[in-house]
Amino acid sequence: MAKRQKINEEDLQEMYEEQDKPASETIISITDLPGVGAATAEKLELSGYDNLMAIAVATPGEIVDLTGVTEVTSRKIIQAARQALDMGFESGEEVLKKREKIIKITTGSKNFDAMMEGGFETGAITECFGEFGSGKTQIGHLLAVNCQLEDDTAVAVYIDTENTFRPERIKQLADGRGLDNDKVLRNVRVARAYNSDHQMLLVEKVEDLIKKDKLNVKVVVIDSLTAHFRAEFIGRGTLAERQQKLNKHMHALLKIADRYNICVYVTNQVMAKPDSFFGDPTQAIGGHIVAHASTFRIYLRKGKKGSRVAKLIDAPNLADAECNFYVEMGGLKDV
Ligand code: GTP
Ligand code: MG
Repeated sequence: MAKRQKINEEDLQEMYEEQDKPASETIISITDLPGVGAATAEKLELSGYDNLMAIAVATPGEIVDLTGVTEVTSRKIIQAARQALDMGFESGEEVLKKREKIIKITTGSKNFDAMMEGGFETGAITECFGEFGSGKTQIGHLLAVNCQLEDDTAVAVYIDTENTFRPERIKQLADGRGLDNDKVLRNVRVARAYNSDHQMLLVEKVEDLIKKDKLNVKVVVIDSLTAHFRAEFIGRGTLAERQQKLNKHMHALLKIADRYNICVYVTNQVMAKPDSFFGDPTQAIGGHIVAHASTFRIYLRKGKKGSRVAKLIDAPNLADAECNFYVEMGGLKDV
């Protein structure tokens, strides 16, 4: 008798939760789906169905087996997940319209901008990899400031995994461009990621900033993309698992870049290539997964007399090229 009472309460609870469900355009996690209350969500999450994509590609039977909901509800849940993910085709015209909205964020260096044909693009992931001190973090700070040059409502999100974000540096760079440094700093949202799961969760939360807080997010920096993954998955046996997780992370980043026209900037370390006799003896962490998901890849290294060299090595419609610059107090300066 007592048990029966409990089930009824649970059902009631789910019914109440249902009434607060958002419309399809604001569905961002599985708990937002119609028919998924706290208890159902928990069952789904425990079985690894913890994101909309997993639900969207599931069969109704799977969801029924896992959660005990009816087949009709199961179909509704899957349908809503599919709609929320916007899994359809776009016309060539729509793609063109989207491309017309692309903004190029200047680096402040003429040479660097020329190499990128204007700057760092929104709607894409740009990866910078290179040894320590090569300037990866500096460029992250720079983009957080420079996205605000043309649009003073632009917001930069900085996901900091190594505790190297420096508000003082943001202010210096804003001063270098003659911007109101307090205002620029207010438009930078910073979060420290403590491990790879946290890092991935923070990327999901970027959608909240856009949809719930209505922020005009133009840049998302992940500095460093790979450090936590590298530290947490040690040894050959864990490589597949690490790459799978990184893959999921890169796709989440691609999705926000594409859907909200954001410039996603990620930094990546290099490691020694033990079997290299010629050329550069280093290679980027993350392998093909990171390389393929990044729209633009830039290799940074230290050059002569304290300068830095950036080499564009992978870009859809730009030629491979190289440029030289100095990192200075107010920004980048051409050599
Ligand atoms: P890791 O994160 O260690 O892998 O290195 P990184 O590639 O992120 O290096 P970072 O961007 O931190 O670059 C460090 C270099 O930028 C330093 O060696 C300095 O030359 C330069 N730099 C950093 N901060 C400043 C600054 O406040 N003023 C100036 N003028 N240069 C700076
Ligand atoms: Mg750094």
